[in-house]
Amino acid sequence: MSPQQIQEATHYLLQSTQDFRPRCGIILGTGLAGLAQEIDVHYSISYEDIPHFPVSTVEFHSGKLLFGVLAGQRVVCMQGRFHYYEGYSMPQITFPVRVMKQLGVGTLFVSNAAGGMNPNYRVSDLMVIRDHISFLLPQSPLTGTHYPEFGDRFPDMCDPYDLDLVQKALDIAQQHQIRAHAGVYVGVPGPQLETRAEYRLLRLLGADAVGMSTVPEIIVAHQMGIRCFGLSVVTDMGLPDTLEKADIQKIIAAAMAAEPGMTTIIKNLIASLDQHG
Ligand code: HPA
Repeated sequence: MSPQQIQEATHYLLQSTQDFRPRCGIILGTGLAGLAQEIDVHYSISYEDIPHFPVSTVEFHSGKLLFGVLAGQRVVCMQGRFHYYEGYSMPQITFPVRVMKQLGVGTLFVSNAAGGMNPNYRVSDLMVIRDHISFLLPQSPLTGTHYPEFGDRFPDMCDPYDLDLVQKALDIAQQHQIRAHAGVYVGVPGPQLETRAEYRLLRLLGADAVGMSTVPEIIVAHQMGIRCFGLSVVTDMGLPDTLEKADIQKIIAAAMAAEPGMTTIIKNLIASLDQHG
């Protein structure tokens, strides 16, 4: 997706929102839409109306970009995100992040549902992402033509997740008695879940949780100099020796059970941006 397409989408959004300039971007994961209800929404724009935005699949026909205020900050929130397993290309999946940058977003908050592989984790625990593994995905979102205005051709990935935000999130969790860990997220293409052998391998690689999203968006955001924060909800346990048949209803219920804790952490983090930039 070219810089011109990004400019056209940005221009449309600025025109449709009377130049609303969000400071934070939010991308909500499966079963975690509740945070959107906390936003004092000023503008709600359907994805299909935004030039060059990926068109929605059957999975969500109500993709919307919400502009409003959360915890005293101007935010833009993606209600409905794009996954590789739906057939989108990596540049399509990450297009909204590039548009967010043009709108003025400096910090990105991403949530997702993930399979827990660290044996200390339990279903409905939260995992603050402190690092990720990207190379099991079929392609990097940075593959292909390089546009220097996006950032480096070979961007550094030393600390893609802001370590101050990681620590603050763990502190907030402790204050509110929310079970939260800091861990490594591995991104996989999906849509099938992992075999026992795959969970065993992913654990050997050093991952604590596995999921089908987030990594492409974070790579692109980090390339553009956006500060990133990622939060996973453990919706099922991927322990090879005691693996049970996956039940999507249970996975969604586990995400919903963790939603109040996730909302508390993200709201408090956003509120804290005032003091610490
Ligand atoms: N694997 C991959 N993605 C997931 C899982 C899982 O076990 N649970 C929720 N998303």
